[in-house]
Amino acid sequence: MELCFATNNQHKLDEVAGQLGNSFALKTLRDIGCTDELPETTGTIAGNSRQKAEYVWTHFGVSCFADDSGLEVDALNGEPGVDSAHYSGSRDAEKNIEKLLTKLADNGNRKARFITVFTLILQGVEHQFEGVIEGQILTEPRGEGGFGYDPVFLPDGHDRTFAEMRIEEKNGMSHRSRALAQMIAYLEKQKGK
Ligand code: IMP
Repeated sequence: MELCFATNNQHKLDEVAGQLGNSFALKTLRDIGCTDELPETTGTIAGNSRQKAEYVWTHFGVSCFADDSGLEVDALNGEPGVDSAHYSGSRDAEKNIEKLLTKLADNGNRKARFITVFTLILQGVEHQFEGVIEGQILTEPRGEGGFGYDPVFLPDGHDRTFAEMRIEEKNGMSHRSRALAQMIAYLEKQKGK
């Protein structure tokens, strides 16, 4: 069955393609003729994930899935949340981290989590899958790997930030891989029906 991943991020596509197996023909937005900017205006991570998938299903009629992710910090009432990518007003990860650390200042409550929501629309039937990793925000960045907020995110039960881990190690526990694993398990079940 054809299944479109509603993203323009090649890295994400490769990651999913590697885990999906060959029962599904994974299509890109370009493959289905979609060059539109997908809307992301709902104000929530789950809402934006759903909005992107519904856009593809409604306008192109192709079974599809979309993802949306972000960092939620308890002491900042869930900020940066849906604004994670451009928290500082730009997409510059260093500036976003700087704003986060400035806002948190010496607040003792450093509890945070990364969240990903995948929305799957399989022949019109919609399902959401959420993956979460809990952790703490450090007071200074540590490590060179990863992207986004990885240098200040210390996952619970570990003594290295996401940016200090090998990519395989991070991917083994990340919010994205947890959400993806649930979606793939669901797809595997549908295959047999
Ligand atoms: P997206 O929805 O996956 O594109 O993620 C939105 C934003 O959330 C990214 O631009 C990052 O700022 C942040 N983010 C999401 N996942 C991660 C991660 O694994 N590490 C660090 N930052 C992330």
